[in-house]
Amino acid sequence: MTAQSLKSHFLLNEDVTFLNFGSFGACPKPIFERYQAFQLEMERDPVQFMTVRLIQYLKKSREALATYISCDADDVVMVPNPSYAVNTIAKSINWQVGDEILTTDLEYGACDRAWKLICSQVGAKYVRQPIQLPLLDAKTFVDNLFTGVTDRTKMIFISHITSTTALILPIEEVASWAKELGIPVFVDGAHVPGHIPLDLNTLDVDYYTGACHKWMMTPKGSSFMYVKKSLQPDIKPLVVSWGYEALFPSHSTFLDWHSLNGTRDYTASLCIADAIDFMETYNWTSVAKRSRDLVKTYANKFSELLDSPLLAPLNDDFIGQMLSVEIKTPDPEKLYRTFVDEYKIEIPVMRHDAKVYLRYSINGFNTAEDLDVLMAAITDIKKKGALL
Ligand SMILES: Cc1ncc(COP(=O)(O)O)c(C=O)c1O
Repeated sequence: MTAQSLKSHFLLNEDVTFLNFGSFGACPKPIFERYQAFQLEMERDPVQFMTVRLIQYLKKSREALATYISCDADDVVMVPNPSYAVNTIAKSINWQVGDEILTTDLEYGACDRAWKLICSQVGAKYVRQPIQLPLLDAKTFVDNLFTGVTDRTKMIFISHITSTTALILPIEEVASWAKELGIPVFVDGAHVPGHIPLDLNTLDVDYYTGACHKWMMTPKGSSFMYVKKSLQPDIKPLVVSWGYEALFPSHSTFLDWHSLNGTRDYTASLCIADAIDFMETYNWTSVAKRSRDLVKTYANKFSELLDSPLLAPLNDDFIGQMLSVEIKTPDPEKLYRTFVDEYKIEIPVMRHDAKVYLRYSINGFNTAEDLDVLMAAITDIKKKGALL
């Protein structure tokens, strides 16, 4: 199936070169129609929908998702977004003063903020281990990260795919080293489902969150939180609702506590099976491969144009459907508006500590022409002297 015919399945504006699938995904028409059908069903019969059918529908979603990411359906709950899962888990653990949460300095800003606040409230320490870039190989990365382990390290929190730097991190190696040391691991896999394969049974980490509304293409507000069975009793609901001390408890306190958290629109989370069907119908494994190939084809040109090195070796271990390179600009927010307003290119220009990164994302509807448009825009912006 060509990129053009795949594009016809998306609702994206035709006049924009869309190179930012990574931020919020984009929902294909058949999945979006299913979402709206659920919303209609809810509005026609709100009470029966919310009090009877919703829990059944959520069960089906969990089951479909669990098969897709290989875990027990009772170990995963639907949550609105990964921040929700991070807050739920971080606030549940009985931290002691001086405990340390080891992480990298490549994490998503919202998660850093959540951890910092919670650590400041309980007297724990959020340790952002500086990671040497460019990445060289898994072993060097693991050695680098584990230099930050001390006898106070109570958890490792780490992205599976980083946001601003768009790097796939060697999570399998991190998990197995952490296991040797008896340190629990919490993986932020916001970018993972639908992007790279995920097998939670094999990975065997303690906590994992992923967004379904990015690369899995469900409507926004659909993510998951996985917690290893033995740890579930410790994880308290972020929003306490009827599932806590439930009048009619199910077989699982974990599901009761976390599945429902007050009245809201849960329908985005009901479209999981439809998203998986869509990916199967359009052979998303080969779409993803084609996209990764396109990402790599332009990587060196992108890095040369921006006069910045690639952040990792160009292979599937480190690079998926996104590529980030540092860009030297005095005003990232203005540069972002320039891409959008003058060149009609949607691409994130992201601050990360003292640096700024430009990241392109590629999905099935993108073509080499999209990246040519980006390269031409960067060349033009450089000519105008807008980069340092
Ligand atoms: C690495 C990473 N973690 C977490 C998130 C989750 O953000 P939110 O909870 O705002 O959806 C994102 C979103 O882009 C991300 O890139």
